[in-house]
Amino acid sequence: MNGTALRNRMVMAPMTRSRSNNGGNVATELTAKYYEQRASAGLIITEGTYVSEEAIGVINVPGIYTTEQIKGWKLTTEAVHQKGGTIFAQLWHTGAFSHPDLHNGKKPLAPSAVNANQQIFTAEGLKPSEAPQPMTLDDIKKTIADFKHAAINAFEAGFDGVELHGANGYLLQQFFSKNSNLREDEYGGTVENRARILFDILGALKDTVDISRVAVRLNPSLNGIMGILVDEETITLYNYIVNRLNDYCLAYVHLIEPFTDVTGNQNAIQEVAKHFRPIYNGTIIINRGFTKETATKVIHEGDADLVSFGVPFLANPDLVERFKADAALNKPDQSTFYTPGEKGYTDYPALNH
Ligand SMILES: Cc1cc2nc3c(=O)[nH]c(=O)nc-3n(C[C@H](O)[C@H](O)[C@H](O)COP(=O)(O)O)c2cc1C
Repeated sequence: MNGTALRNRMVMAPMTRSRSNNGGNVATELTAKYYEQRASAGLIITEGTYVSEEAIGVINVPGIYTTEQIKGWKLTTEAVHQKGGTIFAQLWHTGAFSHPDLHNGKKPLAPSAVNANQQIFTAEGLKPSEAPQPMTLDDIKKTIADFKHAAINAFEAGFDGVELHGANGYLLQQFFSKNSNLREDEYGGTVENRARILFDILGALKDTVDISRVAVRLNPSLNGIMGILVDEETITLYNYIVNRLNDYCLAYVHLIEPFTDVTGNQNAIQEVAKHFRPIYNGTIIINRGFTKETATKVIHEGDADLVSFGVPFLANPDLVERFKADAALNKPDQSTFYTPGEKGYTDYPALNH
């Protein structure tokens, strides 16, 4: 993976698990145990981890902007490295996907005052999102600096790299998409302007960290969920972004196949890996809904280099071994995806245990 040797092509996809219910948004011993159990993956990408206080959009999620949080994440990186694994931190800012309750009553910051119309996990349960506060140019500058500091902190915590969360309707995708970005300054309007924040962040990272250990996650065909819509410029926009990513020599680009059926939608890329393979020169990770069979096929056909698995890794700490043995998989328990504690987190059995 651009200079980082991995022991197989199976990647654990980033998954929020909301186990940092400790007030300080700190990853704990329990977090370390969960990732250590899954260290046989070729690469682990952590759950989205907040780059700043402003980035918060869900309760009980770890951050990487305080000394305590760096210390907390060290437990995880040490545990995974001891097992011979490789682990990247996913850097996250939720933007409009948040609630004033999570910001001392202040509106969350986003590109424009467009309500994402989502249910937000607050300390008092789910609450509907509200229209956010449009970022000033100073807010944008601070956000770029926050991503930079978070990346520096991630390397200090022992991570092998960082993945910028540019997918699933969160801050960066809110800048990319016309329906959530109504700005009239250099961060809105044209395709180049809407993509600008990503390249500003990459520019800041290039000057401070090893850029060959920085990656980007994108969900180009997200449509009608998480507050994002495809439009007549979406394909042009993502072609522009991915083409420009070639200039950075990143660790990888992590792409997601459509979350919903986009058949017949001319504005949506139907087959994401196939579309971007000829455009992107570096390592591509592809995700969503893959099985052992479909993952093997996409790699053999050459449309991606690595495949990431979300729910299968969540429910099967030894997914690699199970694929090797053609063994049955544990069933995921959706009711414990985001609940505190060990249940549904570190208690999924491995084979022969
Ligand atoms: C419980 C859960 C939490 C998730 N949290 C994140 C996240 O923090 N960051 C992210 O980029 N994707 C997140 N995702 C999406 C997964 O990375 C992945 O795209 C999705 O599960 C589809 O892959 P799969 O079919 O292999 O499960 C999450 C998915 C699940 C099930």
